[in-house]
Amino acid sequence: MLMRLATTLAIAAGPGWAQSHGVEEGRDLFLYFCAECHGKDAASLGPMAEMMALQPPDLTHLAARNYGEFPMAAVAKQIDGRQPVAAHGDMPMFGPTLDEDQFVTLALPSGQPMMVSRSLGNVITYLQSVQSLAEGTD
Ligand code: HEC
Repeated sequence: MLMRLATTLAIAAGPGWAQSHGVEEGRDLFLYFCAECHGKDAASLGPMAEMMALQPPDLTHLAARNYGEFPMAAVAKQIDGRQPVAAHGDMPMFGPTLDEDQFVTLALPSGQPMMVSRSLGNVITYLQSVQSLAEGTD
């Protein structure tokens, strides 16, 4: 399963878009927009979480909870707000915030390309890079 995740990462890099760069930029965006709730490591709870009715989930086990496959399309929709996270969820929508004129193409696990704004692509790439296939706690 680890091999498979690595393969997905390699494909997602695509021509002309440096994967490592995406991870770094994505981490910066994550620290700025997401860490207050999801924690700086995407696995714990940030200061905002205390005040929330619904606890932000550990984002490093999205792949583990999806049979080892990072659910890229779903994650994109959850972040940009196309797919509300839960009926009464507190997760804000970041589509407008992360939207820009530049786009990148990510490769879905099926091999199909998915076009997203560059910043959303970077956040997704960062999240994909922190996936742990060890048993999750939630
Ligand atoms: C105000 C707090 C808050 C912020 C900021 C926030 N989230 Fe969330 N997030 C949540 C909560 C709470 C949930 C849990 C489910 C819900 O809302 O229904 C969640 C769920 C998610 C999920 C779904 C996880 C799953 O298990 O299906 C993803 C993916 C996610 N967040 C990514 C992000 C990213 C990326 C950012 C930054 C761009 C971000 N979140 C910013 C609170 C937040």
